[in-house]
Amino acid sequence: MLGWPRMSLDRWLADRARERDRAGLTRCLGDRAEDLGLIDLAGNDYLGLSRHPRVVEEAAQAALTWGAGAGASRLVTGTLGVHRELESVLARFCDQPAGLVFSTGYHANLAVVAALADEDTVIVSDAHVHASLIDACRLARVRVQVTTHNDVEAVRAALVGRSEDRALVLVESIYSVFGDAAPLGELASLCAEHDGVLIVDEAHAIGVAGSRGEGLVSSLGLAGRGEVIVTATLSKSLGSQGGAVLGAPALVEHLVNKARPFIYDTGLAPAAAGGALAALRVLQDEPERAAAVRACTSGLADAVGTARPAGAVLAVPTPGPREALAAQAHCAKRGLRVGCFRPPSTPDGSSRLRITGRATLRGTELDLVCRALAESLNDALSGEA
Ligand SMILES: Cc1ncc(COP(=O)(O)O)c(C=O)c1O
Repeated sequence: MLGWPRMSLDRWLADRARERDRAGLTRCLGDRAEDLGLIDLAGNDYLGLSRHPRVVEEAAQAALTWGAGAGASRLVTGTLGVHRELESVLARFCDQPAGLVFSTGYHANLAVVAALADEDTVIVSDAHVHASLIDACRLARVRVQVTTHNDVEAVRAALVGRSEDRALVLVESIYSVFGDAAPLGELASLCAEHDGVLIVDEAHAIGVAGSRGEGLVSSLGLAGRGEVIVTATLSKSLGSQGGAVLGAPALVEHLVNKARPFIYDTGLAPAAAGGALAALRVLQDEPERAAAVRACTSGLADAVGTARPAGAVLAVPTPGPREALAAQAHCAKRGLRVGCFRPPSTPDGSSRLRITGRATLRGTELDLVCRALAESLNDALSGEA
């Protein structure tokens, strides 16, 4: 049949690349080895545990004991002693009755939301939640009501006005891009009052918030409440890889039976489980790491003239994506690696520098970093090359 030639994949990809370039939104993969000399204020290894000798050693030991991979999904032959131990230590650390680990934090979010949503459920999701929770809503295939960021009254209206019997409310305790905290106490009370379930992603709070890094849910006295469920990653403060859902034993049992990202996925790699377990033990022995990362982040916030955040994430707005890239380059010139978030990675379409604190950065070194950061932003804003 004659007709217009269909578009080739090559042409389609080239068109998309041109569009990205024109908008200043092209991303490329850097190699950590290229900026080894830079002080890292971009990553999420807030407590410096990914290279802690005990963590690395126990990760290696777990691989030697159990193998490089779990070898099967958890329900087949992939459940190992190191998974069970990690689940129990992590749950206890966060004052939760039980826990289940997943191969990523992304999987944990997909799993809990999709497995808890049924045909009589509405999801009420904060506008700033992480991409994994947005994808979880898509996977759940139920009505989703997105509420303005941190707007308790909007959540109340959604819960009160719903026609569905059940409601899941999705938030992050400390938001990953802007670093602000959710009003968890008020949201938990609303959920208790209106039969909702609050799902709190503590990816950026565990290891950082609370007197020993137990997270915001526990430090606010909300752990163990039936209507509050926690998701976590092992890949940020715990310096490893993987994710978890924490809550009641009945919730864990439901996920084991119903959560497709758990059932059809190979169990968490032994080295990742062993590393996360060791990181938790380091944190138990040295709880002061949590306060240290918050102190460092407050110092950085003072240096750039923004409000001190609840956790380890500082967001510095820039006029646009190109200015964000320019500011990032100025920081690199002064020996600092900072994050640069541009659409679509920012929930409100803005561009920002994302700067993260470190528990290991203190004293004179912190003073020098603060000075370099302030000078870099000054140069970038005054348009200096
Ligand atoms: C808030 C939040 N939730 C979930 C995830 C996903 O965690 P993971 O990297 O362990 O898959 C991230 C990772 O960036 C995150 O920032």
